Amino acid sequence: MSTIRLGDIAPDFSAITTEGTINFHEWLGDGWGVLFSHPADYTPVCTTELGTVAKYKDEFDKRNVKVVALSVDGLESHKGWVNDINETQNTSVNFPIIADEDKKVSELYDMIHPNANSNLTVRSVFVIGADKTVKLIITYPASTGRNFDELLRVIDSLQLTAYHKVATPANWSNGDDCVVVPSVATEDIPSIFPKGYKEVKPYLRLTPQPNLD
Ligand code: BEZ
Repeated sequence: MSTIRLGDIAPDFSAITTEGTINFHEWLGDGWGVLFSHPADYTPVCTTELGTVAKYKDEFDKRNVKVVALSVDGLESHKGWVNDINETQNTSVNFPIIADEDKKVSELYDMIHPNANSNLTVRSVFVIGADKTVKLIITYPASTGRNFDELLRVIDSLQLTAYHKVATPANWSNGDDCVVVPSVATEDIPSIFPKGYKEVKPYLRLTPQPNLD
């Protein structure tokens, strides 16, 4: 078991998947990645989750994000279950699913929480940046299906704040005003943010989202 924290290099691994063996870092290339685990194949919540992710492929592609799922079930199980997902969710699974039967990747990413379930992975999500560092970690219990709109929202925020001196306020979504980071002095804002700004308090300065026309 290893502890992974934000800012760490995402541990590299090779694994058998429904799309062949992948070497994680090589597979990511210079794009962003999402690695997410689910408890088990042929279970209802997971079926809806993987179907939803397949339908969001264009959204992940637009953001240059590759997605890979994982459970501790084997390859043949994954392949049979993918047929069910495609049938019941009216989609076509278009991303690899890791068959982590030996729990190598699950343990590397601390996806098994023994006091929740000693054999199965929880619903972990790791977002990995183009620099291979871990940008986001979220953990859900088996009983709660994830909100993939929220995942896209956070990726939008991560990709925005990686390149601009802004942060995103509560409930921000793409297009909303952003917060100027505290390290930018108020007198420097006009040259950095030509769209203008509003000073609500000296420590709370808002500016239109800088990466939109
Ligand atoms: C599910 O995906 O439906 C599920 C998996 C494990 C426990 C509970 C629900």
